[in-house]
Amino acid sequence: MAIERTFSIIKPDAVAAGNAGHVLQLLIDGGLRPVAMRMMHLTTAQAEGFYAVHRERPFFKDLVKFMTSGPVIVQVLEGENAIAKNRELMGATDSRKAAAGTIRQKYGTDIERNAAHGSDAPDTAKYEIGFFFSGSELATLG
Ligand code: CMP
Repeated sequence: MAIERTFSIIKPDAVAAGNAGHVLQLLIDGGLRPVAMRMMHLTTAQAEGFYAVHRERPFFKDLVKFMTSGPVIVQVLEGENAIAKNRELMGATDSRKAAAGTIRQKYGTDIERNAAHGSDAPDTAKYEIGFFFSGSELATLG
């Protein structure tokens, strides 16, 4: 299986609740290794740009408001089949429907406050990594 990189956000709800470390540990235990990581408080322009694909959706305004409500951790994760693995570890988008033991089930609340984001495909992973990180910020792991 190919070694991939994917983009991940530990969202404001998980950070504010003190669960960032727990979320990260589940990702690492699942076989994903951070190669870049930054805590930041997204501006409205950054959140709108990052989620531009959802601009016409009814939940867009609330999504941007939530994502700018407090600090997040943006990170790049590396591992075998990292894109699918990250999504498996996060669970379903709606925390109320996420399988037991998944990040969103354990640390999220609903479809908006869902603790974590992960890229859904190789092209979005590439775009999302590039949105927040330059190539020189990505570590090479031994
Ligand atoms: P995320 O993986 O960050 O990608 C887009 C986000 O939009 C998603 O997680 C949810 O938090 C949010 N989202 C998706 N669908 C809805 C919805 N129907 N209502 C509110 N928020 C949504």
